[in-house]
Amino acid sequence: MPGVRLEWDGKTADVPRLRLPLQVVETANASRADRGTLSYDRNPGDGWRNKLIWGDNLHVLASLADELAGQVDLIYIDPPFDSRQDYIERLGYDTQKPEALLERIIKSSSDEGSIVLDCFVGSGTTAAVAEKLQRRWVAVDIGRFAIHTTRKRLLDIPRCAPFIVANLGRYERQAWQHATTGPQVKAYLDFVVQLYGASPTEEFQHLHGTKGRRMVHVGAIDAAVSFAEIKEALDEAASVGQPGLDVLGWEFEMGLHELVQEEARARGIDLRLRRIPREVMDPRVVESGEVVFHELAYLEVATTVRKRSLTVTLTDFILPNPDLVPASVRNKISGWADYVDYWAVDFTYGIGGHGDTFHNQWQSYRTRADRRLERTAIHDYEETGNYTVLVKVVDIFGNDTTTAVEVSVT
Ligand SMILES: C[S@@+](CC[C@H](N)C(=O)[O-])C[C@H]1O[C@@H](n2cnc3c(N)ncnc32)[C@H](O)[C@@H]1O
Repeated sequence: MPGVRLEWDGKTADVPRLRLPLQVVETANASRADRGTLSYDRNPGDGWRNKLIWGDNLHVLASLADELAGQVDLIYIDPPFDSRQDYIERLGYDTQKPEALLERIIKSSSDEGSIVLDCFVGSGTTAAVAEKLQRRWVAVDIGRFAIHTTRKRLLDIPRCAPFIVANLGRYERQAWQHATTGPQVKAYLDFVVQLYGASPTEEFQHLHGTKGRRMVHVGAIDAAVSFAEIKEALDEAASVGQPGLDVLGWEFEMGLHELVQEEARARGIDLRLRRIPREVMDPRVVESGEVVFHELAYLEVATTVRKRSLTVTLTDFILPNPDLVPASVRNKISGWADYVDYWAVDFTYGIGGHGDTFHNQWQSYRTRADRRLERTAIHDYEETGNYTVLVKVVDIFGNDTTTAVEVSVT
């Protein structure tokens, strides 16, 4: 194309090759027997897993380089030409490439079982076509909505092979902390506090900033914010008579929402839990001033057990700050369920020695063609016992919210 020049971060700079371990957060379409192995059944025994990876391809590719060296037959690249801002939290993919085009490219450059890599996967065209053509695939994108769109698109393919959803999670954040703010924890805390529009403070142990009459606590980069941690911050805020506390975290311990709200009420404090957005790692988004710390949503489910059959019903999904939702979207919302784009259930969470991976055993989601969403999931257990049921909702902004319920099957 005359006159078009492709630029990207690090094009001319020396890029450090950081090898970071992938954190598998979900398995999809794996049978129970496959748990933990998920090997690719078209080439049994080679241990391959198709991969959908949320992260900056700079880090992802460096981390996968050793595993993939010499094995990838086709690398398809369709980067954003101008700025990646367009792709954050958008509700559709105008840049989507036609499947027919990808079909031609994949057929002419690879064979069945070949590995196809797309590190700007967007709405998932390459992964979907590779899957339909019986290729193995690795799909990467920095946008959470891109990962979610791709996951739904793959699940819609009949007999889609098992795949994992992974990210570089805390390791990527650690690398970012080191690179951008130096190794000192204080520099990291001040950076997040300021991005949140608050002022850093040094007077306290668990409180890192002030914003008007509210105190701010920032969760660690390498651990989920815990119940005990929030209690300590609440105690400190109460001891200095502060009426409000905002807790900012990358991840939160599951199911703590209601418990910490009770603790806050008992101390007369208005508590808000907010998610540190991944976009803080992107200097261009930070510069644009568009970093939003969304308040943590929470969901309610009801369960009933009859004999060995469990029914899980989604009963409520609460977005505490709908005022952050653009008016154009808000006007189309007629009830809580409209915020839910997808929900999935792991009926036997934690079984099989893979405690922190969500094994997707059932899901319902909206597509462009079919906007309906089922509200009830049913599962028949083979064995009696006590189970943890993990329910995950992805809202229309691509954010995950989970809740865990204990059930007893007798
Ligand atoms: C033009 S779109 C790809 C569209 C895709 N071919 C399709 O058919 O839907 C480019 C994608 O690159 C992603 N992206 C931009 N910078 C990235 C980075 N550093 N690492 C990974 N993905 C990135 C964007 O989020 C966006 O989804």
